[in-house]
Amino acid sequence: MTATQLVFDPFSEEFFTDPYPTYRRMREEAPVYYSDEYDFYALTRHEDVAAAFKDYETYSSARGIELSMIKKGGVPPESKSMIFMDPPEHRRMRSLVNKVFTPRAITALKDTVTELIEYHLARVDTSQFDVVADFSALFPVEVISTVLGVPAEHRQQIRHWVDASLHREPGQIELDETNWEAVHQSGAFYYNLIQERRKQPQDDMISGLIAAQVERDGGGTTRLDDIEITGFATLLGGAGAETVTKLVGNAIVQFARNPDQWQKLLDDRSKVPAAVEEVLRFEAPTQYNVRYSLKDAHLHGVTIPAGNAVFLLGGSANRDPDAFTDADQFNIDRDRTEAQNLGFGYGVHSCLGAALARLESAIALERLLDLMPRYEVLWDGCKRVSMTNVAGWSNVPVRVLP
Ligand code: HEM
Repeated sequence: MTATQLVFDPFSEEFFTDPYPTYRRMREEAPVYYSDEYDFYALTRHEDVAAAFKDYETYSSARGIELSMIKKGGVPPESKSMIFMDPPEHRRMRSLVNKVFTPRAITALKDTVTELIEYHLARVDTSQFDVVADFSALFPVEVISTVLGVPAEHRQQIRHWVDASLHREPGQIELDETNWEAVHQSGAFYYNLIQERRKQPQDDMISGLIAAQVERDGGGTTRLDDIEITGFATLLGGAGAETVTKLVGNAIVQFARNPDQWQKLLDDRSKVPAAVEEVLRFEAPTQYNVRYSLKDAHLHGVTIPAGNAVFLLGGSANRDPDAFTDADQFNIDRDRTEAQNLGFGYGVHSCLGAALARLESAIALERLLDLMPRYEVLWDGCKRVSMTNVAGWSNVPVRVLP
């Protein structure tokens, strides 16, 4: 009997539906996986992925963090933002926004986040609604665009652009015309907003970035230009809109499959933050980030030569039984000190918005516990997104049970 060939295809239907059996085989059979079809390497074991996230001198972000960009030879100048930079440039850019996202600064946003969440939940049909389409898709973009300073009437539009720019059909690697159109429209929108804020600054992040000074390579300091500020806004708007949406949808699916865990939350609300961490570990909204190898890397008897795309599969690392006991079990009470949860990445690029994401997700779960202590997912209506490196659902209809 011949074993089935091990194929990891990040653009396949199978990947979007259930990548975990493939991850298991990759960790066991090919910890340094090579894809003949697309010509990339992939790391799946927790210790390898964590080490690679930290080693930016070997695994660079500067050529992009998805395959198509790396294959094209880099990030187009108009799309440049700190997620596509290595230190020291990355550190200088990140320090401009770090203080807006400290846990203390985020705590100050708690009332705004709560209001937005309550506003949207007050509008759902409380007997049956779609947790993602009617709720979790709507509020995160409003939170982050409030921070940026996007006027209220344009906030949902940002989400439609982000969705359209990330959408991929199975097998589609390159951005198509619809993807590009969304990228350009949102870029033009931010560019115009920056011009307005230059004339009339307000108490928002775009005005803050206009006023900021950044150190340059040569040693001097200058202000950011329009393209750089547009890059920040696009990155934050995108990262802030998509991922929490997915986390909340993934949570409601996992709790439906594990009702005893939902009951634990109903019994003890202090477990909500731990539940958020477990969803992030078990079914991370960001399954992978891609890097470009700047030098040869040797591991498990294989050499990844310099000049290659390398997938860092955090989604697999978080299910590695060598890192987590009963890794394939969804357990909100698990010992969180066993290993680093890689759901927010790790190292210099680890998620800037982690504190905000935790706050939003925890409040959303709290309110959903109030609204639907007992619920069932209407599985036939569930639909997964097919997006580049974002995993989750676009539709999770639920019926609230008496
Ligand atoms: C559950 C929600 C979220 C998840 C799972 C998530 C995940 C991640 C991951 C895995 C990375 C690392 C990327 C890399 O190494 O290449 C990252 C970076 C980043 N995230 Fe998040 N994120 C979430 C929410 C947010 C939110 C709400 C914001 C909004 C502020 C945000 C902003 C960013 C930014 C700006 C970066 C780039 C940081 C850098 O390059 O230094 N994220 N995120």
